[in-house]
Amino acid sequence: MDRTRIKKVLAEGEPGTVVNVRGWVRTRRDSKQGFSFIELNDGSCFGGLQIVIDAEVPGYGDIKDVTTGASISVTGELKESPGKGQRVELQAQEMKLLGTADPDTYPLQKKRHSFEFLREIAHLRPRTNTFGAIARVRNAASAAVHEFFQQREFLYIQTPVITTSDCEGAGQLFTVTTLNLERIAQIQTEIDYAQDFFGKHAALTVSGQLEAEIFATSLGDCYTFGPTFRAENSNTTRHLAEFWMIEPEMPFYELEENMTLAEEFIRHVIRAVLERCPDDMEFFNERIDKTVLETLRNITENEFVRLPYTEAVDILQKCGQEFEYPVEWGTDLQSEHERFLTEQHFKQPVILHDYPRTIKPFYMRCNEDGKTVRAMDVLVPRVGEIIGGSQREERLDVLEGRMKECGLEPADYWWYTDLRRFGTVPHSGFGLGFERLIQLITGMQNIRDCIPFPRVPKSAEF
Ligand code: 4AD
Ligand code: MG
Repeated sequence: MDRTRIKKVLAEGEPGTVVNVRGWVRTRRDSKQGFSFIELNDGSCFGGLQIVIDAEVPGYGDIKDVTTGASISVTGELKESPGKGQRVELQAQEMKLLGTADPDTYPLQKKRHSFEFLREIAHLRPRTNTFGAIARVRNAASAAVHEFFQQREFLYIQTPVITTSDCEGAGQLFTVTTLNLERIAQIQTEIDYAQDFFGKHAALTVSGQLEAEIFATSLGDCYTFGPTFRAENSNTTRHLAEFWMIEPEMPFYELEENMTLAEEFIRHVIRAVLERCPDDMEFFNERIDKTVLETLRNITENEFVRLPYTEAVDILQKCGQEFEYPVEWGTDLQSEHERFLTEQHFKQPVILHDYPRTIKPFYMRCNEDGKTVRAMDVLVPRVGEIIGGSQREERLDVLEGRMKECGLEPADYWWYTDLRRFGTVPHSGFGLGFERLIQLITGMQNIRDCIPFPRVPKSAEF
């Protein structure tokens, strides 16, 4: 008999029909009258299916081994459920024990486990309510990302994972090499990357933007959605060494249009998740963060505040709040400042724009004031910066000047400057950190719980 996923059974299973379900046992209770209740979950949805199994059902002999975490296959007839909160339950006609899970060693017992502990057993944590829900929300959000751009005729571009340029210029690169570093260390003091696989220093990408600009200035609106890597040695709740980024790039867009697209994009993904994962979202709101639905509603229903960096500095200096890091024009805002603006001052998402050029990368368009660039950061409650983007510098001479100012050699970026040499156009784009979006949507405190297998300093298990 074909197996039916529990989501389908719970949503549309008709009493009187016979179905087969398979999954992992959450709990089992034995009654004194010689039958048992099993709650089975197969990951297809938040809820489990209640199974009632009588002692004479074939397979009941194994019931003692049907413990939390064990896998079983059950065929039976759906009945209207007398219990609260469920439409149907399964009256078992046959049960097969597929795999046992020794209760003395299975780490996921019924009690609540800390997220720190669950990170150590990342191979089993998808079996918990929380991590099952996060996986389904990530899935719905990924689909919504593609849907948003596809509806607008954006091209999905796959940019390289291995690159020889440092887009953000922050030097947080993971080197990719086939050189025998141990041997080199014994015989010479310097590494000659000309001898390496690619003939020069190569690294894992920190952003697909520069390559996305190539396609945007050939084919029109496009976007990337891929893994990015940063050797960021910061142990915070918002940084990963490997994270997924969505980077749209649009020719003929100026900064204002870029902001509007960013707003619409965030709203679209949030709405899609709220619509497609109602049970999971209910759970996050009840058990993880009681304000999460309200925060999301606020985001989908209100326009974002748009504010120049200079005015933000003014607000922060005059607000009377004590910050760990002082605020001064020309310095990068810290997470505490970003969160103050979006959580306490405006109480809604804020797009800060026109930052000092000294704290932003070489590719951002310079303003006439000689001090600022057309940068934008989207700040949201609890997470802080969720998007970073800009209008790009399309003037060749200005771009080359900025590169030198940033210590880069324009010749190393000859293909990037060529885009300004041949048919240059104003263009803009941004990058949204996918795990920060998942943090915002689920209310999870730590970004390490928003990706299946987090990579952070001193940890790349699994
Ligand atoms: O602001 P960032 O560095 O911008 C760029 O990479 C541009 N090239 C994007 C573009 O214009 N195409 O990074 C963009 C976003 C941040 O706002 C943040 O959400 C996320 O990527 N991000 C991280 N997420 C998790 N862990 C990290 N270490 C992250 N660093 C950045
Ligand atoms: Mg940024």
